Amino acid sequence: MRLFIGISIGDEAREALFSAAARMRKIADGRYVERDMYHITLAFLGELEIGRMGEIRAAMDEAAGRAGKVTLTLGRAGYFGRGESAILYGGVAGAEELRPVADGLRRALAARNLPFDPKPFRAHITLARRVNATEELLGVPVTPVTFQADALTLFHSCRVNGALRYLPIYVVRFGEGDL
Ligand code: 2AM
Repeated sequence: MRLFIGISIGDEAREALFSAAARMRKIADGRYVERDMYHITLAFLGELEIGRMGEIRAAMDEAAGRAGKVTLTLGRAGYFGRGESAILYGGVAGAEELRPVADGLRRALAARNLPFDPKPFRAHITLARRVNATEELLGVPVTPVTFQADALTLFHSCRVNGALRYLPIYVVRFGEGDL
């Protein structure tokens, strides 16, 4: 099963991002992400056997147990990459505070020999792929909604009736995992 661990986005922030993305879609075509899939990835594990679930949960419990709530605020849209791999994302102010959480999670995964993509953590909320970014597109205002990152969520990336979905399959709140 294809797995990744991230932060869920609160409903108000999700709606603010979606309304900005709806305006962006009128300016530039691309593969826009469904609003219920918005999230911040902390560690992408990729394909793992279900038998490793206990170790994944233990790593999440350890990392979440050491983490405290982080206050995040939606910011200006940004852009990585080009062409097929281009990503249009919602920026997040305050996300530097998530870096120790991402680092702690990755250490807890590595200690259990669980694989993850080692690309450096860069907090972003993917809004669309394969978009040609312009100043006009990136200038679409995003309401600066504040929300709390207060839990780690394990997502199963899978197809449901043919549509890609990120299903939350395990959640552990910050300060509540086992150390
Ligand atoms: P994203 O964080 O930029 O949105 C499921 O594929 C999620 O994991 C996507 O949200 C994706 O990108 C993120 N992800 C991070 N590293 C990945 C990788 N190496 N391959 C695929 N997806 C990755």
